[in-house]
Amino acid sequence: MRKKIIAGNWKMNLDIQLSEQLIKEILKNLNKEVFLKTDVVVCPPFTSLLTVFNLIKDSDIKLGAQNMHYENEGAFTGEVSAIMLKSVGCKYVILGHSERRQYFLETDKTVNLKIKKALEYSLNPIVCVGETLEQRESGIQESIVEEQVKNCLKEITSEQLKKIIIAYEPVWAIGTGHTATPTQANEMHKKIRSVIEDLYSTECAKELKILYGGSVNEKNSADLFAQSDIDGGLIGGASLRSKSFTEIIFSVV
Ligand code: PGA
Repeated sequence: MRKKIIAGNWKMNLDIQLSEQLIKEILKNLNKEVFLKTDVVVCPPFTSLLTVFNLIKDSDIKLGAQNMHYENEGAFTGEVSAIMLKSVGCKYVILGHSERRQYFLETDKTVNLKIKKALEYSLNPIVCVGETLEQRESGIQESIVEEQVKNCLKEITSEQLKKIIIAYEPVWAIGTGHTATPTQANEMHKKIRSVIEDLYSTECAKELKILYGGSVNEKNSADLFAQSDIDGGLIGGASLRSKSFTEIIFSVV
């Protein structure tokens, strides 16, 4: 049985004061039992990581970052390393989000390097894959996602795979209010699992946690999480509202 994960991706939102306010509300709304059913991760912007860490460190909520560089240190102005994320209390890092791919020219190749570096520093990568609307309309969504999974996981061993979470985030569903139907999402999750089975083993495919992301909210989350192959969600917009985010967490069955 795969334990679910609900991760909030705050993106470039909330200054320190607002981050503090949001995390305090989330903490107040959750109870111990929730964490038996699901792991909860919040991914604030870099500037709020320390503040949020100090508020959650005695709770079961875990900290994640939204990106990192694949080098340890050096002349990479504006970048943040895995070592830095570890030092601020991160356990997770989102890698290869479609917004990173679209606006910051991130590729499967750089995502692969980042995954390796994150693993070296015991950060759990949440690796995002997903097709664009154009690709879905042309019927090539499965091969696109297959390719992304294969490229991102190049030279990753089955032992390392245990630390990796995949997030299927169809680009057309992110921030648009158009969610993939539970069936559409589950089909892609099954596809990803079959790719992992081919690349690694049936055991690895069974163990892999695959999150769905793209306009998840408190109204559609229960149906999505009830699907056989959906192991939780990567939540953008709705994770900025404490009530929505906690209701999503409580909708885990
Ligand atoms: P959304 O974002 O929930 O606002 O669609 C999801 C994501 O980008 O991770």
